[in-house]
Amino acid sequence: LREHEEFTKVKNVSKIELGKYEIDTWYFSPFPPEYCDCNKLFFCEFCLSFMKRKEQLARHMRKCELKHPPGDEIYRQGSLSMFEVDGKKNKIYGQNLCYLAKLFLDHKTLYYDVDLFLFYILCECDERGCHMVGYFSKEKHSEEGYNLACILTLPPYQRKGYGKFLIAFSYELSKKEGKVGTPERPLSDLGLLSYRGYWTRVLLDILKKHRSNVSIKELSDITAIKTEDIISTLQSLELIQYRKGQHVICADPKLLERHLKAAGKGGLEVDASKLIWTPYK
Ligand code: ACO
Ligand code: ZN
Repeated sequence: LREHEEFTKVKNVSKIELGKYEIDTWYFSPFPPEYCDCNKLFFCEFCLSFMKRKEQLARHMRKCELKHPPGDEIYRQGSLSMFEVDGKKNKIYGQNLCYLAKLFLDHKTLYYDVDLFLFYILCECDERGCHMVGYFSKEKHSEEGYNLACILTLPPYQRKGYGKFLIAFSYELSKKEGKVGTPERPLSDLGLLSYRGYWTRVLLDILKKHRSNVSIKELSDITAIKTEDIISTLQSLELIQYRKGQHVICADPKLLERHLKAAGKGGLEVDASKLIWTPYK
């Protein structure tokens, strides 16, 4: 019931200012009541504190000491960096991030305890600091085998390949853990599109390389993608058949080539050799 009430609540904050952007919001987010009566909220782009007035933000920016998310930089590639923030060590940051993210996530209940999560913040860095472009969250221990809870690319940065980069990153972490992973359900429409695109690209590349002489189990071992997600992706591409109670890959080379063309360029890739990270214990 509580969830249902949340879904049906009307949007309360219609715009935010974050760094150099003014962004129109998409959905309701459960900000404390005193923030709900203002049309626009002003965020510090580094610590994610939010304020009702521009002057308050200006004052805050003069004394805020952060120039990047409050965690460890675990990946750097050119001007892109990824930071890992522990929700237990940085509770306020984690909560602020959840308030911010909920403005663009419809179907997620964000009342969970940030203590139990790690946040992976992707930034574009320049001489002024590291500017968040998106993030994903991950449970420290997931019973269901989830390797990602929520993913967001901030609207000004969408459709540039950052979503698929974040997804690829979540699977790189799973590979380091020696586990398969899958995103928490339900997925939004844009979430499903992005995952479908990622899975398709990754699986087609391997099928091509191995001339389709590879099993579903092997695909899963190589990619850390859960077998169910592999099967559903290959089914949608008609590259799999169900024979004698088993799923068998049967990739006609012409069909494979056609799919590969349609899948387009790989885009922004994660360079696993640049990841400096050990699994959470
Ligand atoms: N219209 C049509 N297709 C789209 C759109 C769009 N507006 N946005 C993304 N796509 C598809 C495309 O297929 C695209 O691949 P392509 O550009 O090669 O065609 C693919 O999604 C991924 O595009 P990216 O640029 O890599 O992804 P982006 O940085 O835009 O981020 C994301 C995708 C994270 C889903 C973003 O749309 C977002 O933050 N949405 C709001 C929050 C959300 O819905 N998150 C997922 C919830 S589910 C979960 O958290 C487990
Ligand atoms: Zn700040």
